[in-house]
Amino acid sequence: EQNLEQNERESLFIALNFAKDFFVKNLQSEEGRSIGLSYFKERGFTPQIIEKFDLGYALDGWDHFLKAAKTAGFQEDILFKAGLVLQKEGDASRIYDRFRGRVTFTIHNISGKAIGFGARILTKDKTQPKYINSPETPIYHKSDVLYGMFQAKKAIRDFDNCYLVEGYTDVISMHLSGIENVVASSGTSLTEGQIKLIKRFTNQVTVLYDGDAAGIKASLRGIDLLLEGGLNVKAVVFPDGDDPDSYSRKVGSQAFQDYLKENSRDFIGFKIGLYQDEFVKNPIRKAEVIREIVQSIGKIPDPIIRSVYAKEASGLLQIEEEILHAELNKSLIKNQ
Ligand code: UTP
Ligand code: MN
Ligand code: MN
Ligand code: MN
Ligand code: MN
Repeated sequence: EQNLEQNERESLFIALNFAKDFFVKNLQSEEGRSIGLSYFKERGFTPQIIEKFDLGYALDGWDHFLKAAKTAGFQEDILFKAGLVLQKEGDASRIYDRFRGRVTFTIHNISGKAIGFGARILTKDKTQPKYINSPETPIYHKSDVLYGMFQAKKAIRDFDNCYLVEGYTDVISMHLSGIENVVASSGTSLTEGQIKLIKRFTNQVTVLYDGDAAGIKASLRGIDLLLEGGLNVKAVVFPDGDDPDSYSRKVGSQAFQDYLKENSRDFIGFKIGLYQDEFVKNPIRKAEVIREIVQSIGKIPDPIIRSVYAKEASGLLQIEEEILHAELNKSLIKNQ
């Protein structure tokens, strides 16, 4: 029983590795070079970064991968369990490639083995999703994986900080800007498993989500979860419409690094910054923001750190500390 499961996991790793090599090789094919490689070049990706992240290209067509994998001896059921092929609805005997005519981003586990793919569309076709991703499999538990952790873990330890971004290309562009301690939550909300993974390497996270309404909302949710996990949290806001990838390419790596330094705020400064314009004119809005900040402070497990932040909030918001503490106690009771 145990052995069967182990054998299956091993087969899945081998299939994923075969797929990775296939996509990487096909980026250098005639079709791959003219469609995939030219796309990466346009985004400023170098041959070195393409190799470092195992970027590739999935040929356009229904079964280029399937045929190659079968020729190499892979059985259809393993390819299906690996999430590499799909079954036609109502006819499980008809299977075809999941990734077609897209550039591929290999998702690695922390030891560097391929466990899945994200694949980006190259046309402006709005009827298709921008990215197609591998599904959950026995070797890819999405809630325990952060994109880029394999390439980032040493730098995260060395700098004792982890930058958290939304997207695959944010991770890659930050590496190109000389910042390697960066991982992506891949557009989904952060999970406890992902926070545990970060805590193996550092207790400090800086959230760099996209500068749009969705990104800010996701930052707020992520920050509370990180605080609950006992992490020290900072955040940076990007201009509306920019993400770390677009902004770093717009301003260049030195100005990008300076921007991160100058605009990193702890979670209290981040929240005040978001709402400041509204609450200077509106005391009720200010009260709401205070309550929201107090609720975030209430998530911090360590009472001493909690009280340090309460003091900071009291100073920044010009609210007496006793009032903040009374509100904090209410939210602590609610959390129990
Ligand atoms: P974004 O829409 O911000 O894309 O989604 P991006 O990373 O900036 O991509 P580019 O710059 O347009 O190429 C952020 C992340 O959310 C996931 C991907 O992981 C993406 O990197 N996502 C997004 C999907 O899984 N599917 C989608 O259709 C869109
Ligand atoms: Mn499992
Ligand atoms: Mn976005
Ligand atoms: Mn983005
Ligand atoms: Mn982007």
